[in-house]
Amino acid sequence: MSGIEALIRAAAAARDNAYAPYSRFKVGAAIRAADGRIFVGANVENASYPAGLCAEAAALAAMIAAGARRVAELAIVAESAAPVPPCGLCRQRLAEFAGPEAEVHLGTTAGLRQTVRLGELLPLAFGAAHLPP
Ligand code: THU
Repeated sequence: MSGIEALIRAAAAARDNAYAPYSRFKVGAAIRAADGRIFVGANVENASYPAGLCAEAAALAAMIAAGARRVAELAIVAESAAPVPPCGLCRQRLAEFAGPEAEVHLGTTAGLRQTVRLGELLPLAFGAAHLPP
């Protein structure tokens, strides 16, 4: 199995544990950190809808809590007719810990695959370099 497929499988397994009773749209994410470790996340919804958390944000939180700081690549899996890209807010969250060259692998439960780079998803990203020193 390729490294990409292993990451997709980790995301799919996390997706099985998603808590999405409101949208019924389960999402799983898996990050391979620069140190090689894999961190997963699933979406966590809430009766107060805006309090919900995306799978990508959950995976990033797991990575940070474990002491890793750099995303090498990421996989996202959902059940959808077309591969699901990260939402706008999560693109910004990812850009904090991944460069524009980082690959984002989009997968569906039916087996569709698409790979894009973070820089394609979020061109001209705002970042720490724009803040005053
Ligand atoms: N969702 C994610 O977790 N990641 C994405 O990339 C797209 C959307 C979640 C948020 C919400 O729980 C559900 O999918 C429907 O929008």
